[in-house]
Amino acid sequence: MQNADAKGHVTGKSVYVDDIPVQKGTLYGKVFSSDIAHGRLRKLDISGALAYPGVEGVFTAKDIPGKNQIGGIIADEVLFADEVVEFSGQPLAFVVAKDELTARKAASLIKAEIEVLKPVTDPREAMQKGQLLFPPNTFQMGDVEKAFENCTHVFEGRAETGGQEHLYIEMQGSYAHPLENGSIKIHSSTQGPTHVQKTASRILGLPMHRIEVDVARLGGGFGGKEDQATPYACMAALAVWHLKRPVKVILHRMDDMKMTGKRHPYSADFKIGLSGDLKIMAYQATFYQNGGAASDLSPAILDRSLFHSTNAYYIPHTRVTAYSCKTNLPPNTAFRGFGGPQGMYIMEAAIAKAAHELKVEAWKIQTRNFLKENDTFQYGQIAENVNISKCFAQLDEKYDLRAMKQEVEVFNRENPYYKKGMALMPVCFGISFTKTTMNQARALVHVYQDGSIGVSSGAVEMGQGVNTKILQVAARVFCVPPEKVKIESTNTTRVSNTSPTAASSGADLNGKATEIACNALLGRLKETAGDMLKANPRDIALKNEWVYLKGFKTDIHWKKLVWEAFQKRICLTENGHYATPVIHFDKSTNKGHPFAYHVYGTAVLIATVDCIRGRYHFDKVAFVHDFGNSLNPSIDLGQAEGGLAQGMGWMTMEELAFNEDGRLMSNSLSTYKIPDIYSVPKVVECNALETEGPDLAILRSKAVGEPPLMYGVGAYYALQNAILAFNPKAPVDFNAPMTPEKVLLRLYHKE
Ligand code: MTE
Ligand code: HPA
Ligand code: MOS
Repeated sequence: MQNADAKGHVTGKSVYVDDIPVQKGTLYGKVFSSDIAHGRLRKLDISGALAYPGVEGVFTAKDIPGKNQIGGIIADEVLFADEVVEFSGQPLAFVVAKDELTARKAASLIKAEIEVLKPVTDPREAMQKGQLLFPPNTFQMGDVEKAFENCTHVFEGRAETGGQEHLYIEMQGSYAHPLENGSIKIHSSTQGPTHVQKTASRILGLPMHRIEVDVARLGGGFGGKEDQATPYACMAALAVWHLKRPVKVILHRMDDMKMTGKRHPYSADFKIGLSGDLKIMAYQATFYQNGGAASDLSPAILDRSLFHSTNAYYIPHTRVTAYSCKTNLPPNTAFRGFGGPQGMYIMEAAIAKAAHELKVEAWKIQTRNFLKENDTFQYGQIAENVNISKCFAQLDEKYDLRAMKQEVEVFNRENPYYKKGMALMPVCFGISFTKTTMNQARALVHVYQDGSIGVSSGAVEMGQGVNTKILQVAARVFCVPPEKVKIESTNTTRVSNTSPTAASSGADLNGKATEIACNALLGRLKETAGDMLKANPRDIALKNEWVYLKGFKTDIHWKKLVWEAFQKRICLTENGHYATPVIHFDKSTNKGHPFAYHVYGTAVLIATVDCIRGRYHFDKVAFVHDFGNSLNPSIDLGQAEGGLAQGMGWMTMEELAFNEDGRLMSNSLSTYKIPDIYSVPKVVECNALETEGPDLAILRSKAVGEPPLMYGVGAYYALQNAILAFNPKAPVDFNAPMTPEKVLLRLYHKE
């Protein structure tokens, strides 16, 4: 089954917020934001903008009828700065005019008088100044101090990872318009419609039922729209509240890059202890997360870094502490992997360091320490259906890592100015929101009297194919062709109290809710068929749109069955509710069973470095991924390849540059490089692990959105190994991304 959106996307007919036909009288908004990263707002003079012809309103903190507060987990973020500005790009005002150009011109007439204070952009500096966004958290198991004493080898080091711009193709945006009696409808580019609804209701001082949020689809989210679509929806809604007219705001690329938060950069100290036979006995680390100016989703992201801080390994003694440091950058936010990639990069750094010091291949340490059945994770969960060794075995069987390694060595011996490097990257990623409450979803399924079906759920389509998967679930349960099923927009009046589509759980949670609703409807339809055939409903089955009795085809078609049920006044609508069973987690002890299951995989990456210029390319990335029993192999392949490319971009070329004033310098596509068709690996081979898939995955098809991104982490280590093949004196340090400039410096580094 191809992606249900494929045709619309390639013909340009798919509708995004900016494509919604505008109503008469629609006004356009422009956000005026601070250029100063830290300061006291002395005066905000909006008179010039207000007087500009065509301007209908200029709104600031003073114009908020409810609370000037958009913080999700912690209430520490204002919609508009009022007394202090805490990052460059922080919104100060929203200008609304008859057209976009007028709004932009008027916004340029606003004068902000800001008393400049020194900004902090480095997390360790923030830590030293005691600037934390919230209290630190620690995961531990065993007795790490004692374990280190008994280790044959102990190594320490430091690791840094950069941030990452989401660069969704569709910018943040929203289109809001008044409904009758003071209600407001908001079309938003959000992954979290309920988050928008709840926050807009707080800003406007209205009950949630006054706000309707609708999402058709997103042109990419990658976590960047889990929380951060909200402010623009609130601004549009605020203007609608004041002006009683439709208001639209779509950010321009450079504004989007300037104002929105990104993946969190981390700085970390690690200490790893091994036994003589390369068993990792102890691991200790401290993470300094660069949180930006407000908490946003940082507490949950910090936690996921801890959850994944030992990646796919069993380490009996661990202690990892993480601090979220408050800096004068835009509040950093969810990004595919949600802190997991950072935690894993640091673990892999510790292993790379140990491997280098001990003069062994890193993959010997990696494979020696793979998680096994019934091992305990740091967070108390017992590992079940562990597939990491299986992934590695299948990879090794197909590609013969020893032979690959030999080829690399031969190449390196024969080529003085080109060197190859190889790395293995195992991944183990937990599936579920780490906050148990969030693991719930609903789906509203209508069977219309002509036999066609409409499904609404809490899932937001952002390119990952969740709508197609949900459509497949409904088609499968009812045994009808996919054309019979339509997936509706995500709308808070049809499906309420939604969790954001995130944590790779969109298809699992909403798919299961859909499955529950469809099964309930199917049960009622089977009863109708039983009545029609004077037979036991349990003997009825549906196959290819026909009713079967005890395995024999009858003359009752799906359409006839539905019509008959309608005549009998049977309810043809069902609301399915799903809450992931089994999971629980105790925040006070950091122990429990937080994940429904884990996704596993192993990748091997080979890079070639041009040792004169520092440039590089990736020859090949091959991986074995645990898709479970994939519901849609072509969508899942797209997720795996896209995730890999995004992870490799983060590790190799994507470099955010802030100047000392805290202003983003890499604020456009000419200065911020992302992977393109030329920089992705020459060969990408994705192999599905031969496996069944767990019950808690939708139709045993495992969540796939985030885990493959972490294969990209191996890119750093493949490049490092190539550099060392040229210059054995190159520093074995951990400071991602490994840009060509950094490669060149390391190639010619002397002592
Ligand atoms: N794929 C595309 N094409 N676009 C996206 O924005 N977001 C990723 C992933 N894959 C994303 C994507 C992220 S961050 C998550 S959490 C999952 O999709 C969310 O969707 P799912 O839960 O349905 O897998
Ligand atoms: N993953 C992704 N998004 C989230 C999570 C999570 O665990 N918790 C809250 N938002
Ligand atoms: Mo994804 S970072 O959980 O939206």
